[in-house]
Amino acid sequence: MYWLGLDIGTGGSRALLIDDKGRLKASFTAPHEDMQMPHSLWAEQRPENWWDAAQAAIRGVLNEADIRSAEIHGVGLSGQMHGLVLLDEHNHVIRPALIWCDQRSQAQVDFIHRKVGRDKVLEYTANPVVTGFTLPKLLWVRDHEPRHFARVRKVLLPKDYVRFRLTGEFTTEVSDASGTSLFDVVHRKWSYEMADALGLDRSLLPPVYESDQVSGKVCDRVAAGVGLSPGTPVVGGAGDQAASAVGNGIVGGGVVSCTLGTSGVVFADVDRPAYDPRGRVHTFCHAVPGRWHVMGVTQGAGLSLQWFRDQLMSKLDYSKLTAEAETVPAGSRGLYWLPYLMGERTPHLDALARGGWIGLTASHTRADLIRAIIEGVCYSQKDGLDIIESMGVRVDSIRISGGAGQSHIWQQVLADVMNKRVVILETQEGSAYGAAILALVGTGVYASVEEACSRAIREIAAVTPRAAEAGLYARGHKIYQSLYPALKPIYRSLE
Ligand code: XUL
Repeated sequence: MYWLGLDIGTGGSRALLIDDKGRLKASFTAPHEDMQMPHSLWAEQRPENWWDAAQAAIRGVLNEADIRSAEIHGVGLSGQMHGLVLLDEHNHVIRPALIWCDQRSQAQVDFIHRKVGRDKVLEYTANPVVTGFTLPKLLWVRDHEPRHFARVRKVLLPKDYVRFRLTGEFTTEVSDASGTSLFDVVHRKWSYEMADALGLDRSLLPPVYESDQVSGKVCDRVAAGVGLSPGTPVVGGAGDQAASAVGNGIVGGGVVSCTLGTSGVVFADVDRPAYDPRGRVHTFCHAVPGRWHVMGVTQGAGLSLQWFRDQLMSKLDYSKLTAEAETVPAGSRGLYWLPYLMGERTPHLDALARGGWIGLTASHTRADLIRAIIEGVCYSQKDGLDIIESMGVRVDSIRISGGAGQSHIWQQVLADVMNKRVVILETQEGSAYGAAILALVGTGVYASVEEACSRAIREIAAVTPRAAEAGLYARGHKIYQSLYPALKPIYRSLE
């Protein structure tokens, strides 16, 4: 018997299979089309492409494992958060989705805060509105594309569009809904107060489940095509960060995770919806009933190195890039990277922040450039960790995952910058793995997410911080932190 986890990421859709002990059987990734950036800081993808990739990933993993559809007992979904998928009365996609890193909606963010009131927004949703979230994107479409907006009948998040294609059901779950700015995170239900205050029809919003509840079944129409049996249960699943946290066993105190994918996220589990009054980290529902989480988000984590590789290094292998970075000393000889390629969330909440190196001299080499990127992303993650610790969360160690998290230099720099033990897990599959664990719980194999995690997740290695490097990075972090305020006025004059 196997359970399938499916993650609709930014770069691709990944499917994997686990057995009832949480052991990985096989995995398969189908790439997505590149995100489209029709203007600077805009980011769009086609939902239909996610569905094609999701089907290819499911078929690919079944093929790889040589498993029959009848052996799959449950499906869990996860996906990139905050994206805006709009469907018309025939359930057709109206326009490409505005995805999580799209930054076009600052005017709508300001409008919402003025119209509803900052305090009320916090009271209703536990977070300030930021440009990445779903609601301001929806209002951008209302303001700029009224003909599209008039046709909207359903608003879905990325993985929930794939769920709709797979099951025929319009539903979402608490963790992903938390990132819409339309969700009452404290009471785990839609904030109709927000919708009403902004004149949005409540019927746009789908029913909400807890992450480990069955939300639908694979429908007859698509079953044969995707290779699953009709009627296979599909659980709520989670936004990619909450799912990744389940996959990393972040379901109790003392351990946080750091997921270095396209974005970078420091994630801590909390037993009440505590929030940073300045809203620099998000407070969302966890994929565990009755629990919440706080997270700090670096918009351009893996994206920073990906941009460098694609634009300047002819898509050279990442392992070659990171090997080069190992050849220069910690601190990149005074060079700093600001990872604000798509604006920044934590700690600046600034859509206009821009990326770049500071401190270049003619003696710097390509290796310094690469190492500085890794260090800059880790400094940004440290900004998030510091805020989380200042909220009273105890942090003993950090479990690392995500594509960049597989590499030794990323692990070591993170340990040194954070000055914490960085732990490596046996299964470093992140979001898709967490989604499969939620499917194990939803189909009754385990009584709770905590129990499933305690059975499935094992630490296998750790990287300890080195005293000299940790001291150097503590000083470096202060310099890094002084750069954004100095540059902020200039960012406003760049167009
Ligand atoms: C989290 C976030 C990103 C996306 C893409 O708030 O925006 O992590 O989910 O992975």
